[in-house]
Amino acid sequence: MLLEVHELNTYYGMSHVLQGISLYVNQGELVALLGRNGMGKSTTLKSVMGLVKPRSGSVVFEGKTITGYPPYKAARAGIGYVPEERRIFPNLSVVDNLFLGIKGGKILNPEDPKVWTMERIFQHFPKLKERAGQKGRFLSGGEQQMLTIGRSLMGNPSLLLVDEPTEGLAPLLVKEVRDILEEINKAGVSILLVEHNIKVALSLANRVYLMGKAHIGFAGTVGELERNPEIKAKYLEV
Ligand SMILES: Nc1ncnc2c1ncn2[C@@H]1O[C@H](COP(=O)(O)OP(=O)(O)O)[C@@H](O)[C@H]1O
Ligand SMILES: [Mg+2]
Repeated sequence: MLLEVHELNTYYGMSHVLQGISLYVNQGELVALLGRNGMGKSTTLKSVMGLVKPRSGSVVFEGKTITGYPPYKAARAGIGYVPEERRIFPNLSVVDNLFLGIKGGKILNPEDPKVWTMERIFQHFPKLKERAGQKGRFLSGGEQQMLTIGRSLMGNPSLLLVDEPTEGLAPLLVKEVRDILEEINKAGVSILLVEHNIKVALSLANRVYLMGKAHIGFAGTVGELERNPEIKAKYLEV
């Protein structure tokens, strides 16, 4: 098992926003974490990444307990995080934005074909290559999203936590981002994906977790979910 989250409890002040969240991601999997707004999906990713500190429970990554690690240590352990708000550097070029992604990640031999280099990122993101010298702020929303994903890959994560990557994108770009996630996953990066576009999520995922308020209400394969329209209706906007 690549990631194993066991009984996480996370609070914002008095508010108990994760009440015993357990989930796992196997090596090579793309797992979707879905649910309506405010259920705790982003907080779950943040609790894994160490951006918020769970009060109890455990996060085990590649066999090592990393619960409560600060984000830079989680990154060094091999977890990449693509936040909901695309945090690109508007005054830096695409290339410089990508270089910043190396910082904090795993340092590996660039000769190894499995290692993410600028060249390899540009193969997967030809649009970014075209705009390599441009400042981040001149990129479209879709290009900024690709840049955020590309930058996180520069840290060579074995697991990528991706929060709402298609939010606010035009349909054509939704498809592009979707296809990139598929490619990255096929290239060997496991992904835990939070996504409000159910169609996109189910077209990519091996398995699905559905969140109700602060808890996991359903766990199963995409096929199992498709055979349970009442569960879909209970937890998702369908
Ligand atoms: N920084 C914060 N401080 C206080 N409450 C928060 C904070 N972030 C999120 N929340 C609350 O925690 C709950 C879960 O939020 P979140 O994890 O963002 O849900 P989701 O990603 O599923 O929409 C919501 O009720 C939200 O209002
Ligand atoms: Mg969210």
